[in-house]
Amino acid sequence: MKKNAFLSILVLLVFIGLSSAALANGHGQKRPTKKGILLVAFGTSVPKAQIAFQHIEERVKAVYPGIPVRWAYTSSMIRKKLARQGQYLDSPEMALAKMMDEGFTHVAVQSLHTIGGHEFHDLRRNAHAFANMAGGFERIQVGNPLLATQKDLLRVTDAIIKHIPQTRKREDAVVLMGHGSTHPSNAFYTAMMYHFQQKDPNIFVGTVEGAPGIEDIKNILIQKKTKKAYLMPLMSVAGDHAKNDMAGDEEDSWKSILNKAGIECIPVLKGTAEYSEIVDIWVDHLGIILSRINK
Ligand code: CO
Repeated sequence: MKKNAFLSILVLLVFIGLSSAALANGHGQKRPTKKGILLVAFGTSVPKAQIAFQHIEERVKAVYPGIPVRWAYTSSMIRKKLARQGQYLDSPEMALAKMMDEGFTHVAVQSLHTIGGHEFHDLRRNAHAFANMAGGFERIQVGNPLLATQKDLLRVTDAIIKHIPQTRKREDAVVLMGHGSTHPSNAFYTAMMYHFQQKDPNIFVGTVEGAPGIEDIKNILIQKKTKKAYLMPLMSVAGDHAKNDMAGDEEDSWKSILNKAGIECIPVLKGTAEYSEIVDIWVDHLGIILSRINK
């Protein structure tokens, strides 16, 4: 299904590409250089969380002025949900097709994902396909997600620690909720936990859909006789997972699971995109690819 959808977009693109290539290059003229930035997030349907994305866009425009910024969401589920509410967001492929049609020649695609999982690698593969098309981009680069290098791990550790609520005491645990993935990059979450623990042995990282899970974290907290835990998302936005799976009242939420083990929970409903030190990391990754497309 996904493959078919991509194929039909590709066929469509080849047509758009051929016609614009014929118009732009038909007389042997070189197209004028037109640079653009495409910001790509998983997406969110939570309005408050969308404000965090606006914050990123403002920062990008301030640091790299004069370059048009476009958006795409990789989650088709979120795009469909938003469309039902009258809000239309593009997939990365659709956004790139439109940029191609608008005559962009140099495109920096910045992933706003947390780890380089399936979505990031799909994005990279499809983005590069656009460079090979007639009338396609002269240069296209995809920037790394939040966690890619050792330096990123250290910067994220410091940024999150800085934003732990002041009321938290040293003996209180901080449990971060990552999304988790079946992709090998899921190991970044354990790597994050290692770095947090170097600075503060009461900070833990669990995931909703990967390993370690909340049961693993719960067992450590019980062993440590933890009484109180601050729950914080290690996701760009405090969306559905943070609101329901982390802080919800349902029996299987992290709050309920830890409560049942006698641990009081204080959920912090803020996504990492709300912290300027984290946004700076994505913005720096964008800077790297912008300098590459300028060469
Ligand atoms: Co999910």
